[in-house]
Amino acid sequence: MENIIAKAVIGTNSWGGKMYGKAVRGSYVEDSIIKEAMAEAEKQGLKIYDLARDYGLGKAQKMIGEFGTENIILSAKYTPFTHYKKNCVRRSLEKDLSDFKRDYVDIYWLHLPTDIEQHLNEIIELYNEGKIKHIGISNFDLEECKLSKRILDNAGIPLYGIQNHYSLISREWEKNGLIDWCKENNISFWAWAVLEEGMLTDPRVKTKFSLMKLYMNRQKKKMHDLYRVMIAISKRHGITVPQVAEAYCVNKGIVPICGCRKPNQVRELAEAVEVKFSSKEMQLLEKTADLSGAKVLGHDLFRFAVLKKRR
Ligand SMILES: NC(=O)c1ccc[n+]([C@@H]2O[C@H](COP(=O)([O-])OP(=O)(O)OC[C@H]3O[C@@H](n4cnc5c(N)ncnc54)[C@H](OP(=O)(O)O)[C@@H]3O)[C@@H](O)[C@H]2O)c1
Repeated sequence: MENIIAKAVIGTNSWGGKMYGKAVRGSYVEDSIIKEAMAEAEKQGLKIYDLARDYGLGKAQKMIGEFGTENIILSAKYTPFTHYKKNCVRRSLEKDLSDFKRDYVDIYWLHLPTDIEQHLNEIIELYNEGKIKHIGISNFDLEECKLSKRILDNAGIPLYGIQNHYSLISREWEKNGLIDWCKENNISFWAWAVLEEGMLTDPRVKTKFSLMKLYMNRQKKKMHDLYRVMIAISKRHGITVPQVAEAYCVNKGIVPICGCRKPNQVRELAEAVEVKFSSKEMQLLEKTADLSGAKVLGHDLFRFAVLKKRR
């Protein structure tokens, strides 16, 4: 099986969905612009798209299928909103494949650590049928990752990757050893929300009101020093502030998944992958981020969605 070496991934959570776009992101981006972004991604050599059935109420999946998936690497997910039921993963994957107009996905993630063994066993079945080329897990803690790896090892299948929340201001998975464990075991670590849904973009650029921004603005007040450092580093390297946040992850050996829906955002992501920071710059970014005390909703919110074990 050919391994997938991911440098950066395009996230599709913010595609589609007028209500979601306006309420959460402050704006809705027309499909024609997203299509231009996809064409730009092809030009820039960014091939990997991260999807899930719930993103934009399924609109992202359909858009990808309509765009054409011949030259694209598809990263899709099964989201266990309920406890395991026989063939639940199969049914969901079949809908994905119909949306993608494909007979396989490149990477398939178990989105939450609910009923891990049962869900993974069904994913293994689909892998053995050739419908899934690589298996990953998302929003899992270290113990859950170890358990998943054991299950896959027993089936003779490598664990491709972990997809968890991570950014310059959310480094829990590094501090508790999960990222080192990935490196030791040659498992790819993909970071979702590396721009913290807009918190790690340029504070000097005014954005439209949204519910998310109401929360963010409170946190942003704590981040003056961090923005100052990010702006200084961006000037030194001739890049933008969001590119500093993206390049930070790449310099840590982590794959950034970035919510791009405009051509310039795709271009910036492709450029950020090539930026090299000195160890002094990395230390300064981390120290200032830690001192800011800024908090985000992402990590805890997703763990909250994990169902309790059945008795
Ligand atoms: N596995 C999981 O549980 C999970 C959970 C959440 C997300 N994800 C994945 O991670 C992806 C990324 O997360 P996200 O989209 O929520 O957040 P994100 O990537 O942290 O942030 C997206 C925001 O950043 C802005 N942005 C993107 N590129 C920019 C650039 N170059 N310059 C300035 N602003 C830029 C976007 O602006 P605009 O508003 O102008 O577009 C958008 O508001 C998702 O799409 C999804 O694929 C996975």
